[in-house]
Amino acid sequence: MCGIVGYVGNQEAAPIILHGLRQLEYRGYDSAGLAVLDGDGGVQVRREAGKLLNLEQAVSQAPVTGAVGVGHTRWATHGPPSQRNAHPHSSPDGDLVVVQNGIVENFLDLRQELERAGYTFRSDTDTEVIVHLIDQHYHNGSAGDLEDAVRKALLRLKGPSAIVVLSAHHPDRLIAARLGNAGGVTIGFGRGEMFVASDIPAILRHTRQVAFLDNRQMAVVTAHGAVFKDLDGRPLAKECTRIDWNPTAAEKGEFRHFMQKEIFEQGRSLTDTLRSRLDFQRNAVVLDSLNLTPDHARRLTKLTIVACGTSYYAGLVGKYYIERLARLPVEVDYASEFRYRQPLVASDQMVLAITQSGETVDTLAALEEARTGGAFTAAIVNAIGSQAARVTDGHIYMQAGPEIGVASTKAFTASTTDLLLLAIYLGQQRGVLAEAESARIIRALSMLPGLAGELLEDALQNDRYRELAERYHTFYNFLYLGRGIHYPIAREGALKLKEISYIHAEGYPAGEMKHGPIALIDATMPTVVVAPRDHVYDKMISQVEQVKARSGQVLAVAHANDEAIRAKVDAVMPIPVADELLTPILAVMPLQIFAYEMAVRRGADVDQPRNLAKSVTVE
Ligand code: M6R
Repeated sequence: MCGIVGYVGNQEAAPIILHGLRQLEYRGYDSAGLAVLDGDGGVQVRREAGKLLNLEQAVSQAPVTGAVGVGHTRWATHGPPSQRNAHPHSSPDGDLVVVQNGIVENFLDLRQELERAGYTFRSDTDTEVIVHLIDQHYHNGSAGDLEDAVRKALLRLKGPSAIVVLSAHHPDRLIAARLGNAGGVTIGFGRGEMFVASDIPAILRHTRQVAFLDNRQMAVVTAHGAVFKDLDGRPLAKECTRIDWNPTAAEKGEFRHFMQKEIFEQGRSLTDTLRSRLDFQRNAVVLDSLNLTPDHARRLTKLTIVACGTSYYAGLVGKYYIERLARLPVEVDYASEFRYRQPLVASDQMVLAITQSGETVDTLAALEEARTGGAFTAAIVNAIGSQAARVTDGHIYMQAGPEIGVASTKAFTASTTDLLLLAIYLGQQRGVLAEAESARIIRALSMLPGLAGELLEDALQNDRYRELAERYHTFYNFLYLGRGIHYPIAREGALKLKEISYIHAEGYPAGEMKHGPIALIDATMPTVVVAPRDHVYDKMISQVEQVKARSGQVLAVAHANDEAIRAKVDAVMPIPVADELLTPILAVMPLQIFAYEMAVRRGADVDQPRNLAKSVTVE
């Protein structure tokens, strides 16, 4: 969950590291620190509790100079957020520092062992055992060979860890290593300078040529390149990937928050998601990187979707798409449940992960479980080169561009769009989707970016959502209702509200309201209904009546031209009329904007909500 940035080159390292950390602050923001080698063989360390701003101020008050360094922004696991627990952690004589993303599961045993060997601990973190272990090996068994000491230390760790090591005795290099599913380690190639980062946006300003570390791999990085090895010391050949993201895609631009920017760029991101996927001549969908043969697609008996959070709700929409268009039974499971319930998986099944980051630890573990059972594994994933893309038999990149806001928005609409593409694809390969029907849906899909743009432009041009936030920001509880394909949208809308505005919100299938939640309805508990005119519209209207009959207030996501619902509810969040299959993708957007404006009105930190991190790489 933490963010790491390293630099070796010919420029001042600190500004490059601080800028990179700012791009990674979404991964953790309870403390931050950096270490830079000075020209006299010393390591200058600055660490501060709280947000990155505190570290920036500390560095401006006490500057560090040098062209080799490493930085870290933390999401606390072991030990509270404080200066002493902030990374980097140093060896006893301060000549070696380590930053880590991950968890050392056997840290208590290792700590006791190191204490018996004479090491004194100055923090509560698990990371400190890593630096002492490296120091111990460096001075004993490895006889001054840093690479060997890092390797030996890593082999003592249990649990996932990504680390970067800097040593005053080896001032021309950084050593980066990855053990398990600890989140990404990206090595960036510049001219006479090299970068290390947990995620691409941190270094996108400097280079687009990158390589990724897999589990049990390390890189010795100097200004002129990187040497890759596995943890047994065997050299590895690595190919570079070119990242096509525009560097400004990872900047806020004129927007106040990343979340706001990412909501309002969904017209563009959906264009990218669909780019080169729709073949109008053959009325087909192109998903080459899925690597699924028509024969294999026909033999599938079941598809299981595994995901967490917002990606899980996208999976629920996908269930509707795939069962309807491909006539394939779909189960959607929380990855954290699937991995521990000894699931029934077999070779005639496909297990599909949905993950923006491609690094969510539970999702990767669920994929591992599926692979062990012999299933065909695939991922709908946004982060290029991430673990989910690399460990699966096939993948579909969301092509949404970097998503920085902790609250996921454009990745949700990109992944639901990809699920619709997948449903058409499977329907065609399995011979159950009529050509005229696929042609109709493909034509409808091509309208999606325009419809999204229209909806978002309308929202930008008036004060509707700010006024709603003014009216509703003091309420403590909300109920969100949806039915059929819009039930997952209700759940996603509720998640958005709770995670950034800290208002309690429940997403419920509308038909279930009378089986319990109706008891909660009164004037203090507004209900948000997702009620476009579809085949269950009349039933949604009767839910509205039931809420109104109990003095409840109703806010409706409804078609812009639906005057009937407008007369019944307290407020309408309009969406354009579109094909029923596209409506969930559009209907979530007003709920994203509503949650955003509510959080802003309540003075919450929209991009860095409390206790959350963007990439959940620990259990
Ligand atoms: O990167 P992933 O899609 O695997 O992340 C899954 C969840 O952690 C994520 O969607 C989370 O729920 C977001 N904060 C939701 O806005």
